[in-house]
Amino acid sequence: MSARPFRRIAFVTAGLVLASTVAASSGAVAAPGSPGEPRYAPGDPGAGDPYFPLAGNGGIDVVHYDLDLDYAPPAAAPAPLEGTLAGVATIDLVALADLDRFNLDLRGLTASAVTVNGKRVAFTQAPNELVVTPRPKLKAGQAATVVVTYGGTTTRPTDIEDALYGWVTTRDGAMVVSEPDGSATWFPVNDHPTDKSTYSFEITVPEGLTAVANGLLLGSETAAGRTTWTWDAPDPMAAYLATATVGNFRLEQYTAANGTPIIDAIDVTRSPGQVAGLARTSEMISFFEERFGPYPFVSYGAIVDNDTVGYALETQTRSFFSSSASENTVAHELAHQWMGDHVSPGRWADIWLNEGWATYASWMWREHRGTTTAQTLFTGVMNRAATSSTWSTVLAEPGPLGIFGTAVYDRGAALLHALRVEIGDEAFFDLATEWVDRFGGGTATTSDFIALSEDISGQDLDQFFQVWAYEPTKPTTW
Ligand code: ARG
Ligand code: ZN
Repeated sequence: MSARPFRRIAFVTAGLVLASTVAASSGAVAAPGSPGEPRYAPGDPGAGDPYFPLAGNGGIDVVHYDLDLDYAPPAAAPAPLEGTLAGVATIDLVALADLDRFNLDLRGLTASAVTVNGKRVAFTQAPNELVVTPRPKLKAGQAATVVVTYGGTTTRPTDIEDALYGWVTTRDGAMVVSEPDGSATWFPVNDHPTDKSTYSFEITVPEGLTAVANGLLLGSETAAGRTTWTWDAPDPMAAYLATATVGNFRLEQYTAANGTPIIDAIDVTRSPGQVAGLARTSEMISFFEERFGPYPFVSYGAIVDNDTVGYALETQTRSFFSSSASENTVAHELAHQWMGDHVSPGRWADIWLNEGWATYASWMWREHRGTTTAQTLFTGVMNRAATSSTWSTVLAEPGPLGIFGTAVYDRGAALLHALRVEIGDEAFFDLATEWVDRFGGGTATTSDFIALSEDISGQDLDQFFQVWAYEPTKPTTW
């Protein structure tokens, strides 16, 4: 995808207007309070990420989401591609401030009841926001259980680039892939990677369909023509990596060489050739463990759907593939489990740390398979014209419309290859494992990466990162 400067300018302007409105409104209603008394103030409607001002929320930290979903896919064509979702989200959270009000993100679905610690409370809905008024008010540090009963008609949402994402209704179910801010299309959520949580799912669908979520399958039960699928995802997870994909899937279960249980969900229409890339999953896990450290989660597997959103996603523990799973893409999404999922971006501007690493991991995998070398792939990127968006994009500040652009993937991978040459293999792989070990389970930023690179290599890398990550020009010397 190339950068679209015109649209980017339009979005940034809208984003700034939104951000200042948000700042003004939350500032205006902040309650005063005499010293020594709790100051109850509403939580902000965003987590403070300038690329997606309404994603996430201030003042809360979600510990666990228990999502009880009941889903009816669309009727047969020519009925519209719309499903019906009824959900009960039980959200365990901790107040980070004294709160007389807080927000969750919810878009296109209607809440019918909200309780906080068992008491019904008042709430309102605005675009992307469910505004909850807890009574009694919450004190900073207080744990609370929030239950939201909600539902509505599911459609085919799109992101700011017009790509399908979120709860994407399909004829046989739904594809659920929410990067970067699409989770609000299917559950009330604090939708920013800086708030990781554990998840459990009970998803009820018509008998014959399979609902696939993250983590481990605890079981399925059928009654009166409906099957409830229960999944448990105990590894802290950013909301965009959660899935509850529904379709005509065949489940295939086995154990990888490192002992990780693998659960693949393959659409029954897929031919062996369309899923051939999955055959080396176990070998790839071992390959990346040698480079990035132990596989970080309780399980792994793939979902290969017959429908397509046009891309794959590294949904945590269960990567999603549109139509088919090629070996390179399988390697890319698997590498994301360490790089992106276990260590997640602190701001969406830092997404090159996800995509650069996953792309570079697939370069290393291809070299391992003997089809090419990382050096050859690096040279291929460096041969791109100076006018390419690979070089005109500032890697560490690609803009909201640039987060899936060529630069984030290829310039990111090229940076990592150049860094490996600069500091040597030993320091480079120490850096990779230390990065995962130190920031795993949380988030990290470009500055964290630069600091750790300098720390581990003992080299001053200011000029290197300036040229590679902060200049809108093609690196020539570094
Ligand atoms: N993170 C995904 C991958 O590279 C790509 C997601 C693209 N999303 C989008 N809305 N275009 O593996
Ligand atoms: Zn990726």
